[in-house]
Amino acid sequence: MAAASSILRSTFVSPCPQPNPRRPSKSPSRAFHPIKAAAADGPAALHQKNNRRPADENIRDEARRLSSSHNFSARYVPFGADPASTDEWYSLDEIVYRSRSGGLLDVQHDMDALKKFDGQYWRSLFDSRVGKTTWPYGSGVWSKKEWVLPGIASDDIVSAFEGNSNLFWAERFGKQFLGMNDLWVKHCGISHTGSFKDLGMTVLVSQVNRLRKMNKPVVGVGCASTGDTSAALSAYCASAGIPSIVFLPANRISISQLVQPIANGAFVLSIDTDFDGCMKLIREVTSELPIYLANSLNSLRLEGQKTAAIEILQQFDWEVPDWVIIPGGNLGNIYAFYKGFHMCRELGLVDRIPRLVCAQAANANPLYLHYKAGWKGDFKPVRANTTFASAIQIGDPVSIDRAVLALKNSNGIVEEATEEELMDATAQADSTGMFICPHTGVALTALIKLRRSGVIKPTDKTVVVSTAHGLKFTQSKVDYHSGAIKDIGSRFANPPVQVKPDYGSVMDVLKKYLLNKDSSSRK
Ligand SMILES: Cc1ncc(COP(=O)(O)O)c(C=O)c1O
Repeated sequence: MAAASSILRSTFVSPCPQPNPRRPSKSPSRAFHPIKAAAADGPAALHQKNNRRPADENIRDEARRLSSSHNFSARYVPFGADPASTDEWYSLDEIVYRSRSGGLLDVQHDMDALKKFDGQYWRSLFDSRVGKTTWPYGSGVWSKKEWVLPGIASDDIVSAFEGNSNLFWAERFGKQFLGMNDLWVKHCGISHTGSFKDLGMTVLVSQVNRLRKMNKPVVGVGCASTGDTSAALSAYCASAGIPSIVFLPANRISISQLVQPIANGAFVLSIDTDFDGCMKLIREVTSELPIYLANSLNSLRLEGQKTAAIEILQQFDWEVPDWVIIPGGNLGNIYAFYKGFHMCRELGLVDRIPRLVCAQAANANPLYLHYKAGWKGDFKPVRANTTFASAIQIGDPVSIDRAVLALKNSNGIVEEATEEELMDATAQADSTGMFICPHTGVALTALIKLRRSGVIKPTDKTVVVSTAHGLKFTQSKVDYHSGAIKDIGSRFANPPVQVKPDYGSVMDVLKKYLLNKDSSSRK
């Protein structure tokens, strides 16, 4: 009970009723409903006004004043280790990226402490924080702080109130192209720097901020990137005044992605190699210099990314979708989604998890090949070829083991998309009012294939995760719609019509267009 009241004191600006820790299932009506309870206390406006922070106090000061202790904690353990038997673990305040044996690490939460509260409690707590401006819970990531980085002081958090991204019903795309009635797009690209990377980066940079305040040897933060990670890293570091260093493969990322770290003041190295080459270099460099490694090898980022999965459940009012389709490159995100869903089941917020689909570009498809081989034999990296889905042009994914576990445990599937398929799917989606990035085109292609083969049914509740904003990838759309891509038919191109600047010419083309449109829309 003491722990419960302390979380809530740190959650709400105004005093709130005591939450009920886990109760026998016979008394569900006594479960805690913060919003309803607050409303019952009296007029909400008066309630808020009485607790308004003083004019000279900002929201961070206010969070500091209201902070209190709790019993939740997390630590690093070797990925895949049995929590009961492993004796190897590290504090999150240590600078460590690999286990003793050189394997991946995972952030392990004290599940017993979290289980002291039932699913209804967590659902109500998370729901009560959505859309607020309370520091830091207004962020979609930090609204789940107890499950993300429970030990960090709100004061150390670096946040742009990320998350809480749009989950929209793709009505026309679903009906017209797939005969589906329950298709949804989780638009993680509607975010501070235009991709889902913000979700993980707020966590990583916050922890770095804490380490620097503890005088740990961290002079700056570095990453190798296919574009979006560097944009997120540089933005969050700039916001906290922490130097950032990014290694980018020369001429392999979009101009919008390149200009983001430049504008945010990062030290940008453009290196004449691919992502895998940049990744190798940054790992060597960070083992020698006091630069904190921000790639998703670092499991802290996945703690933030997993909140997108929790958010999907929350947006469906805790109803579990049948399928979630995610484009994969370095393969951290597919595991992050799995972890988010899995935690919700383990802590009683839902009773099952969705089937996951990882979608890869055929030009960079090592996971797909491994899946097709029945996960048998050793994983074989590939040399990734150029793809319009440039952020997933990765042949040797760091999180391969994480992805395999996520897919095996969710009865998952891996699909691939050729360049023509992904660009056609992108154009089709855009023609229904979306403006998606090529990676989302890869995910939609996977969906199209699984619908065609009947694996995904017309009424299955299906979520496609859109990982970046289409405005970051306009050149590929320009090339497609101008029919300028070699070996691609651009079947759904919609190029502008060149017209002479006179009334007659304009009327001629318009009449022709309207006649065609009328007959095709009445068919
Ligand atoms: C837009 C976009 N989509 C998908 C991915 C793939 O995520 P992951 O590397 O975690 O598989 C990335 C990663 O760089 C990305 O930037």
